[in-house]
Amino acid sequence: MRLFNILLAATALATGSDARPMKVPTQDIARKRDADFESVRTRLTKDYSGKRGDPKDKYFHESTFHPHMDGRFGDRVLSYDDRRSNLTTLMQTYLSTMNDIGAETWIMHGSLLGWFWNRKIMPWDSDVDVQMTEKSMEHLSDFYNMTVHHYKLPDFPEGRDYMLEINPHWRNFSTTDRLNVIDARWIDMSNGLFIDITTLHRNTTAEALGIEGAMMCKDRHHFNFTDIFPLRESVFENTPVKVPYAYTDLLAEEYGSKALVKTTFENHHFDQQKMEWIPLTNPTTLNGATGGGRPNNKVIYTHKGRPVGGSATPNTPAVNVDASAVQGQPRPNQPITHPHNLAPLPPS
Ligand SMILES: *[C@@H]1O[C@H](CO)[C@@H](O)[C@H](O)[C@H]1NC(C)=O
Ligand SMILES: *[C@@H]1O[C@H](CO)[C@@H](O)[C@H](O)[C@H]1NC(C)=O
Ligand SMILES: *[C@@H]1O[C@H](CO)[C@@H](O)[C@H](O)[C@H]1NC(C)=O
Ligand SMILES: *[C@@H]1O[C@H](CO)[C@@H](O)[C@H](O)[C@H]1NC(C)=O
Ligand SMILES: *[C@@H]1O[C@H](CO)[C@@H](O)[C@H](O)[C@H]1NC(C)=O
Repeated sequence: MRLFNILLAATALATGSDARPMKVPTQDIARKRDADFESVRTRLTKDYSGKRGDPKDKYFHESTFHPHMDGRFGDRVLSYDDRRSNLTTLMQTYLSTMNDIGAETWIMHGSLLGWFWNRKIMPWDSDVDVQMTEKSMEHLSDFYNMTVHHYKLPDFPEGRDYMLEINPHWRNFSTTDRLNVIDARWIDMSNGLFIDITTLHRNTTAEALGIEGAMMCKDRHHFNFTDIFPLRESVFENTPVKVPYAYTDLLAEEYGSKALVKTTFENHHFDQQKMEWIPLTNPTTLNGATGGGRPNNKVIYTHKGRPVGGSATPNTPAVNVDASAVQGQPRPNQPITHPHNLAPLPPS
């Protein structure tokens, strides 16, 4: 029996079931000089950025058809399956690039919730959320703005370009700069999907009042230093990742403790055997997979993990997966175990 399991594991490795994108090394990293459509465009002949409608001081321009797409590179909403696979590679290439550069970054919000359940992006999520230290953002801003990184993907040997773009307003830490709350983006140049990167700052107002540990991002999320640091090492989408120290506290505060136990969510059910979120309805009929048009589906599109405009989740009572898992908070010097019988996290 044991041998059989070992064989299974070996086969899984050999067939590359967790094949990851591979960075194509280059002598010099390619770099775009300008952020304008004409300078960066890949295949589109028309710019789908919602630029004209944007206030003049806004740096990043989302597309006219979806708030989580870059209109310089994408002209349509991706289908459920395409969005999933493309977000996965986006995440993998981002983490791998930041690891190479040595930038300190970690997952937050909806991505952290996805990690909590099965170490994957939740299939209904339309974006990925990461944070970064000020020092690392400074480094990216100084040396990596507009750099283009080429990756070979397991199913796309011709590869794919990803661009790192830094908002010049990132140095303005004020939350009053409402138009520029996103500090940087990691963008898939083949379809316009992107990852929002926000910088974690010290809250100097709180510090002046003698309050310790107050941290904030320009998007007005606030955190306690001890909830984020020391970061924990884990894996997300088969790629090494860092997660905030007190992840259960952070998730419970943002989404409510029910989000950590409720196995029916956003028209999906969590299958404990497969460790996967399974759609309850055929997703292609849910989100109009033909592409284009506005994101009009309440089930699939979410903002920061919350449904936009109400949820069509069936009214199932919350199932408590493992109550002990969410009781008790991770406290310093107390190693905690992942609730779903995955490998325990190292004590920090
Ligand atoms: C990404 O989306 C495209 C369609 O735009 C699709 O052909 C492809 O299979 C998807 N997945 C990946 C990893 O590129
Ligand atoms: C990054 O480059 C773009 C395009 O040149 C520029 O508009 C932007 O101000 C730069 N960002 C930073 C942080 O310098
Ligand atoms: C930051 O942005 C806000 C809003 O645009 C502006 O009022 C403020 O002067 C800026 N601060 C700095 C230091 O540039
Ligand atoms: C910073 O701290 C002050 C004082 O505690 C607080 O009023 C403010 O909301 C904080 N700002 C953010 C963005 O968290
Ligand atoms: C952060 O946590 C520490 C330790 O629990 C506490 O002393 C401090 O007051 C907290 N700071 C804020 C801003 O909540």
